[in-house]
Amino acid sequence: MNVTMIGTGYVGLVSGVCFAELGWNVTCVDKLTSKIEALQRGEVPIYEPGLAALIESNRNTERLHFTTDMQRAVRSANVVFIAVGTPPDATGKADLQYVYAAAEGIAHALEDFTVVVTKSTVPVGTNHEVARILKRTNPNARFAVVSNPEFLREGTAIEDFMNPDRIVVGVEDEEAGTIIEKLYRPLTNRGFPLLRTDINTAEMIKYAANSFLANKIAFINEVADLCEKVGANVELVAKGMGMDERIGTRFLRPGPGFGGSCFPKDAAALAQLADSVGMDLRIVKTVIDYNLDRRARMAERVIHACGGSVAGKTIAILGLTFKANTDDMRESPSLSIIPQLLKAGAAIRAYDPEGMDNARPLLDSSVTYHTSAAEALTGTDAATIVTEWAEFKQMNWAAKKDTMRAPILVDLRNMFVPADMAALGMDYYSIGRAPALAKAHKLAKTA
Ligand code: UDX
Repeated sequence: MNVTMIGTGYVGLVSGVCFAELGWNVTCVDKLTSKIEALQRGEVPIYEPGLAALIESNRNTERLHFTTDMQRAVRSANVVFIAVGTPPDATGKADLQYVYAAAEGIAHALEDFTVVVTKSTVPVGTNHEVARILKRTNPNARFAVVSNPEFLREGTAIEDFMNPDRIVVGVEDEEAGTIIEKLYRPLTNRGFPLLRTDINTAEMIKYAANSFLANKIAFINEVADLCEKVGANVELVAKGMGMDERIGTRFLRPGPGFGGSCFPKDAAALAQLADSVGMDLRIVKTVIDYNLDRRARMAERVIHACGGSVAGKTIAILGLTFKANTDDMRESPSLSIIPQLLKAGAAIRAYDPEGMDNARPLLDSSVTYHTSAAEALTGTDAATIVTEWAEFKQMNWAAKKDTMRAPILVDLRNMFVPADMAALGMDYYSIGRAPALAKAHKLAKTA
């Protein structure tokens, strides 16, 4: 079967390459010539573990092609995926212009019966609008639309595609349903479940799932704040909660607040959808507001750990991306924390294994970027972990702390056991747990 993927961003490129890996003949289309030429040279425009190798192995099998020629790519396809961006507009509403533009482009090229699948995250009703655009643009076209939302996490996208908890397919045409089930048979044959619903329901599953996960994170973050007030340990609270199978242990990690291109956008779009039909989605709106407020307050923790002022101090920021194992800076907490620390008079030394190129244009030019966490720490009055890159855990803190002016670590990702950090001489502050001060400092502080 011939598959055409329109859009080569995080979703389109990973999905296209994975369909090729499953054995289908895939053509990835993008309007950016520079991006397509880079891909044709074997260069990968995004950081996603394992993606470069997967592209390389499939390019050599002639199953994976890259082109800017949408018309030709659509004409040869049995299934065309729309996987373009749906960024939020100023009101939080999903901007569907790229989805609709892709639909127009597809319509002109439709010849034989074609299944047009929207994989981009789109509000309920969008797939039916895509069908109207296709029909209006090419009244003779034979097609059916399908909603097939993705549940890929950046950093584990290939694993998530190849080992899905479920494949959701919203389809209302038997022929299209048969074709899509054939497309996913290499996965369903291995036991991964495929849930068929009507189209609106499939669109809603995506938003409801992401909004619920965002809610789960906001909940444990708020509980973490309460733990700090009453002397409980949020890590053990999360563990105790998660042992209840109805809750589960995943997505209960406290942190600086959720970021990324999905949770903030999808929660806002769901609330906006509700507003458009006269309903006030209060729980989701509270999650959104709480999360924005939390991100804004993280800098205060660094200032507090530095004795109430960072004026004239140098702070190391370890991790800039919105989460580990990605180069994506979208909605990253570091974009709130760093400006506030600069405003409070601090100088910033930053390090991120993958995100610094994307971060540089988003941050003040006074921020200095360093080639390692150890180098970023040198001469600083405190360090802050914003993103949970594994290398921060592996670093030799006992040795590196001596290069700091003050051995203070504010860990917004609870990467360490507090007592261990105090034992090696750090004043360690984290989320939802009591501070752990180095012995010498504890004596001084209590003197
Ligand atoms: C998310 C969904 O998980 C995925 O199913 C959907 O397709 C796209 O959106 P992604 O945004 O890539 O994936 O990353 P995810 O791992 O979900 O993290 C989202 C945010 O929540 C990050 O800022 C992360 O740091 C934060 N998070 C996640 C927590 O703070 N605590 C957790 O326990 C998990």
